[in-house]
Amino acid sequence: MTVEIVPIGRRHVAGFREVLDSVARERRFLAYTEAPPMTEVRRFVLNNLKRGSPQFVALDAGRVVGWCDVVPKPRESLRHSGVLGMGVASTHRGRGVGGRLLSATLDAATAAGLSRIELIVRADNAPAIGLYRGFGFATEGTLRDYIRIDGSAYDALMMARLAPWRGRPVAEGEGMAARDVKLRYHCVEVVAGPDGCEAAKALKGQRLLSADAPRLPLATCDQVEHCNCRYLHHDDRRVGPRREADQGKLPSPWSYTERREKRGRRETDWE
Ligand SMILES: CC(C)(COP(=O)(O)OP(=O)(O)OC[C@H]1O[C@@H](n2cnc3c(N)ncnc32)[C@H](O)[C@@H]1OP(=O)(O)O)[C@@H](O)C(=O)NCCC(=O)NCCS
Repeated sequence: MTVEIVPIGRRHVAGFREVLDSVARERRFLAYTEAPPMTEVRRFVLNNLKRGSPQFVALDAGRVVGWCDVVPKPRESLRHSGVLGMGVASTHRGRGVGGRLLSATLDAATAAGLSRIELIVRADNAPAIGLYRGFGFATEGTLRDYIRIDGSAYDALMMARLAPWRGRPVAEGEGMAARDVKLRYHCVEVVAGPDGCEAAKALKGQRLLSADAPRLPLATCDQVEHCNCRYLHHDDRRVGPRREADQGKLPSPWSYTERREKRGRRETDWE
């Protein structure tokens, strides 16, 4: 038996659904008890392809016999994390397929900048827990009464694996734009000392992006020797709440004038 591990492609959607369905119907390992409908599975795979999310399949003579995917979390503060799911057809377990799938997927997730991979596994799923531990996953807690199948309740474990570093290393030349939004808008204000020069006083209240801020003492400073001006740091260049909602008010009602002359393609245009 030669099993290949390859990145998933559109041509594997039906095969992926088939193996997911077979594992789900075993009713012992997944929260699914059958695969979702084809349209949903296709959307999941196409989204992964579009976003470059890691997903690999195991192929035996072209037939999908296993999968492993990591779906990154969309929220800005959680974007370093991804959620892992996997399974191998019962006919192909215990032969190293799961390990190879997991290894390929974790490598791709690390290359994509994910530093925390997490998953939920049924507490009685010894093979999967053994596999995850072998790849450095640690148990972070027990989710009690997490899954109920056929009248029985099962606990689950929350497991996660952290990359050796906690933040994503910023590649040379990548610049501020790719970093945390907070850092991108980091700015400073020049605060003149008690005997500050006129040039420093003139900058009062101005927030300047760190990269654009003048160095202290200012080039025009007339008391360089005794300069005690300093920078005041801010996370954002904007001052004060800007939206009505930030000020505890209700947003203004939205109004518009219909400018279309013909009926459009929306269903409601025909009502
Ligand atoms: C978990 C699963 C993916 C492992 O895939 P696999 O191809 O059988 O695993 P491998 O043959 O690559 O084994 C890798 C490691 O898993 C562990 N493992 C595999 N089968 C095991 C078993 N029956 N008991 C204990 N550990 C086992 C071992 O640590 C093994 O390493 P080793 O061979 O060096 O001892 C597979 O059993 C499976 O698909 N189970 C059903 C679906 C599922 O549980 N998915 C995970 C949901 S969170």
